[in-house]
Amino acid sequence: MSARAIVVRELGPPARHRIEPVDVPAPGSGEARVAIVAAGMNFPDLLMLEGRYQYRPELPFIPGMEAAGTVIGTGPDAGRFRPGDRVIVRMRNGAFAEQVNLREEQLLPLPVGMSFAEGATFSVAAITAIHALADRGRLQRGETLLVLGGAGGVGLAAVEFGARLGAQVIAACAGPEKAAIARARGAHHVVDHPREDLRERVLELTGGRGADVIYDPVGGAGFDASMRCIGWGGRLLVIGFATGTIPRLKANLALLKGCSVIGVRAGESARRDPELGRRNLRRAFEIAAEGGLRPNISHRVPFHEFPEAYRILAERRAIGRVALLMGEDDRP
Ligand SMILES: NC(=O)c1ccc[n+]([C@@H]2O[C@H](COP(=O)([O-])OP(=O)(O)OC[C@H]3O[C@@H](n4cnc5c(N)ncnc54)[C@H](OP(=O)(O)O)[C@@H]3O)[C@@H](O)[C@H]2O)c1
Repeated sequence: MSARAIVVRELGPPARHRIEPVDVPAPGSGEARVAIVAAGMNFPDLLMLEGRYQYRPELPFIPGMEAAGTVIGTGPDAGRFRPGDRVIVRMRNGAFAEQVNLREEQLLPLPVGMSFAEGATFSVAAITAIHALADRGRLQRGETLLVLGGAGGVGLAAVEFGARLGAQVIAACAGPEKAAIARARGAHHVVDHPREDLRERVLELTGGRGADVIYDPVGGAGFDASMRCIGWGGRLLVIGFATGTIPRLKANLALLKGCSVIGVRAGESARRDPELGRRNLRRAFEIAAEGGLRPNISHRVPFHEFPEAYRILAERRAIGRVALLMGEDDRP
């Protein structure tokens, strides 16, 4: 059977790639075939097109890490899902397609009440926030959490999850529209950078003590400012480098602040420790069942206009998440 997918034949910017028909064989043993309705755009998708992400699939490849859709067939020895089931799919790449075959372990039931677009943009951000703040940062009730890129995909989830854990949350983000969404998701304070000086404002808001935990998906100057407004014994969580600049750590500041700089890789941690992965997934779904960690989808882009979806991310126009639509979204 043939379906359409974005196929990356050579590395380069989004406009260089095309949607092409690809062959989808009958599902193999233990596999299910999913008709994808929506896929979630993540910053790593942008980096992967250009070979700038830590994971580099072999060419040609189909990008896309997460999606949601409906099971339309199953292979031999596959019994956990049935045609018609609404599912979330997770993979290292391959989600920007109309149909995929996946091992059943890669499917999760779409939480009740979630639309396909919400399901498609839920798990990467939710699990990154949970793993970073709970496992790596050990954020405690009453501590101050600073979230850079606080209205971005992984940032907004961290704002909400941090507030849920009982932290005082400061979100750093650009402009009033992003600030309003960060506040609505639980930020107690917002620093509108670069109009406001991050270091000065965080020190002011914490009575000079600095932040206990800092969640940094941005890198560059944001990381440098963070090292100057982190509190004694603080934990700076290195999530990513949306600015494209990998900062250099000044080790004397780590010594002076008695702080830790902690690398976070949510996907790799779950691959190395599947039980931790399952625990965090369960936690994310429990929160979703209570109505929490629902993605804020600022843009829904039709599949054939995919370069625009990448542009929205690159130009920092997304507030929360961007969804690519291969089919018609609905909410049960
Ligand atoms: N470690 C992990 O396990 C893990 C998991 C998922 C993602 N990540 C990483 O997290 C980072 C963010 O991913 P995301 O999907 O949340 O991206 P996103 O939605 O685009 O958010 C990134 C935020 O960074 C800020 N930013 C500042 N300078 C920027 C620039 N020059 N270009 C783009 N954004 C800039 C923007 O906020 P303002 O406009 O408000 O400044 C934007 O909202 C990526 O580096 C990604 O690889 C890491």
